[in-house]
Amino acid sequence: MRFLTEPQIESIRERFGTPVYVYDQRTLEEAADRVRAFPVPCRLVGRFAMKALPTAAVLRIFDAKGLHIDASSGFEAERALAAGIAPEKIQITAQELPKDLKGLVQRGVLFNACSLHQLRRFGELFPGGEVSIRVNPGLGSGHNNRTNVGGPSSSFGIWHEKLALVQTLAREFDLRITGLHTHVGSGGDPEVWKHCAALSLGIAQQLPDLNRLSLGGGFKVARMPGEKAADLDAIGRALSPQIAEYLDGRSRARGRANDDFQLEIEPGTYLVALAGAILCEVIDLVDTGAGGNRFIKIDSGMTELLRPSLYGAQHPIAVVPRYRENGRTASGDEDDYLVVGHCCESGDILTPAPGDPEGLTHRRLARAEIGDTLVIEGTGAYASGMAASNYNSFPKAAEVLIERDGTPRLIRKRQTLAQSLENEL
Ligand SMILES: Cc1ncc(COP(=O)(O)O)c(C=O)c1O
Repeated sequence: MRFLTEPQIESIRERFGTPVYVYDQRTLEEAADRVRAFPVPCRLVGRFAMKALPTAAVLRIFDAKGLHIDASSGFEAERALAAGIAPEKIQITAQELPKDLKGLVQRGVLFNACSLHQLRRFGELFPGGEVSIRVNPGLGSGHNNRTNVGGPSSSFGIWHEKLALVQTLAREFDLRITGLHTHVGSGGDPEVWKHCAALSLGIAQQLPDLNRLSLGGGFKVARMPGEKAADLDAIGRALSPQIAEYLDGRSRARGRANDDFQLEIEPGTYLVALAGAILCEVIDLVDTGAGGNRFIKIDSGMTELLRPSLYGAQHPIAVVPRYRENGRTASGDEDDYLVVGHCCESGDILTPAPGDPEGLTHRRLARAEIGDTLVIEGTGAYASGMAASNYNSFPKAAEVLIERDGTPRLIRKRQTLAQSLENEL
């Protein structure tokens, strides 16, 4: 297992119950260090896309590592502020305008307008102000239409051919466009990143006041064996000549150095995906006869992890026999299983076909018994933050952080039934 040992699994389960998210501080910090070391020929800001894992304890770890925050809604920005993050380190890039945009910006939070409507609204509230814009540069590289965040099939950002309308709005409200953001989810291939960066730098050249350029996130991680992870160092080195050329032109045009310019990257997945695991219990074993399937049922599923049901995402899964110290040991026997969650919902499946949430793929796993622990790895990103919370009235799971010295610390209590009902009248 990536960061958990079997005795740790046993003791976390004993102390905190299941299902429980477990995060590893050391792995989080190492990922933050790699982001901070992204090699570019200018000042760099690494911005954590907090939607990937918005729990305060995690935000604080990244804050201490010098990362800034990308918030996907006004609520996320408020949540980051409540966690103690300084407002000037938070930027909102949201599909929905925050209800209190005025208050948030007045407190110092940065705003990235994602549509012409949003830009107009910002102009109305802050004439003469400075703002960033998100542009859809016409290209996307998400692996399917559910993860695509650029190109004609994506609604994110201002379409690149509409820059003249941006300039018109900027004149109307006397705005300075000082930030440009072009997150298209570029993956792991340095050549794709180079292509995306070239499009972004082409747009940057049309924005004379620009001093912040964000290339977004989307750096791929390898959750499953055989997958290839993004090499941040290789991507940074591949991009550096283009960026240096842009900066050269910028300083010549302005007749001064580029000390005021910063490049940003905005990873979510990369920072947290491999630092998380879900521990759950095998609650039932059923089969559908000869020629059918064997199923492992767990006390978790789409209530803690929606990605397999949503995208056909693949996560490493392991069965850890319980009560090993009571004499039961792994027999070495294995079986082919489908793993399903506890929801009354046929889509609650942990072993979909890769990229196809409606397909099924068997996993070869250690022979399971009811009561064993099932560990789902690679679940730091878009798990606790993006689950089908409270479906079938299951309470939200607890979250535990393994601190640097190996101590597990509760960072979010398990929700009670009463808490899930408290707003009902
Ligand atoms: C604006 C923005 N920034 C950053 C991210 C983070 O992407 P990832 O988690 O793939 O790195 C996203 C994800 O969609 C995004 O929309």
